[in-house]
Amino acid sequence: MITTADRLHSVEEYYFSKKLREVRQLVAEGRPIINMGIGSPDLSPSEHVIASFQKSVTEAGAHQYQSYQGLPELRQTIAAFYMDKFGVQADPDGEILPLMGSKEGIMHISMAFLNHGDEVLVPNPGYPTYTSVTKLVGGVPRFYDLKADKNWFPDLEALEKTDLSRVKLMWASYPHMPTGATATKEQLSALVHFAKRHDILLVNDNPYSFVLSRNPISLLGVEGGMDTALELNSLSKTFNMAGWRVGMVLGRRDYIEAILKVKSNMDSGMFYGIQKGAIVALKSGKDWFEHLDDIYDSRRRLMFELSHKLGCAHDEKAVGMFVWSKLPVGAPDSETFIDELLYEKNIFIAPGTVFGKNGEGYIRLSLCVDKNKIEEAISRF
Ligand SMILES: Cc1ncc(COP(=O)(O)O)c(C=O)c1O
Repeated sequence: MITTADRLHSVEEYYFSKKLREVRQLVAEGRPIINMGIGSPDLSPSEHVIASFQKSVTEAGAHQYQSYQGLPELRQTIAAFYMDKFGVQADPDGEILPLMGSKEGIMHISMAFLNHGDEVLVPNPGYPTYTSVTKLVGGVPRFYDLKADKNWFPDLEALEKTDLSRVKLMWASYPHMPTGATATKEQLSALVHFAKRHDILLVNDNPYSFVLSRNPISLLGVEGGMDTALELNSLSKTFNMAGWRVGMVLGRRDYIEAILKVKSNMDSGMFYGIQKGAIVALKSGKDWFEHLDDIYDSRRRLMFELSHKLGCAHDEKAVGMFVWSKLPVGAPDSETFIDELLYEKNIFIAPGTVFGKNGEGYIRLSLCVDKNKIEEAISRF
């Protein structure tokens, strides 16, 4: 009898992997399910991106293994993108590493820096992968509370009163998923100082920096950020390229070298055509970002209407790809609430508890749904 590794006992199958099976089953039974659960962009990348990909597949060497560090042109384009959008200077030869999505980066960073028993500060609510990956590599997640009354920013003073001596790494994610909260430069600076004081590697996971966000900020643009922190970013949401799997990590040279040590032992480079498409995407002009925001903005206005119909409350100033809605007083718990919607109204919405205990009492509505579908959902009430 072959048993699985002990580490598998520390994690469960991803919530959406299980729940979407149930949703698919309902669709197969003929139910008109509207899926507002996941943040997988339904829009296309720009036609220039697709043309570049198509052209690249006939180029010499396109089908060979690629460099572990990506094409120099891709790294240079990422550097120019970070300078243009955030005013952050990063050396394409050593301070930037292209990744196959930012999710991959969470694993690589954890493998590069965590030893068994190291503690990791994880936002609650937050992206579930920080927790599962920490457990998979033998680390210990230590959840820090994010609450609406503090606009989903941690109480660093309270954290500082706890024993942080075993904490090695801290995950932050601004703009924040799932709440859509943003952090100011001063707040990011406070995070950097906190991490410095306690010798913690701070990582900002920033894939929503360009979705309905009028003022994109990078943690690396804050004084001291580049010496203390790493930042993950991604083309998944900004350029509708989630399935392409392109992301990046930026930060200190020695940290990037450590991540490359892991990554180069795990994959053999990113497909050439994907890199060529990514280069074109990263060079997109202002009109791309405006076009994307126009679509998400019109969807979001409808989603606010749906949220009201459900008796929920939301913050209209939040950014990103989701509407984070507080359930009305007297509502059942989040998972019961979404199950009732699924079975009675054929609408699938993510319960806040997917993102941690502090997500109880909330639901997350995805903007990756066509306007007609949102209108149809509204009409079901
Ligand atoms: C907060 C956060 N980080 C990272 C990711 C992973 O994005 P990707 O691996 O597509 O770059 C997601 C995807 O939903 C996310 O919500």
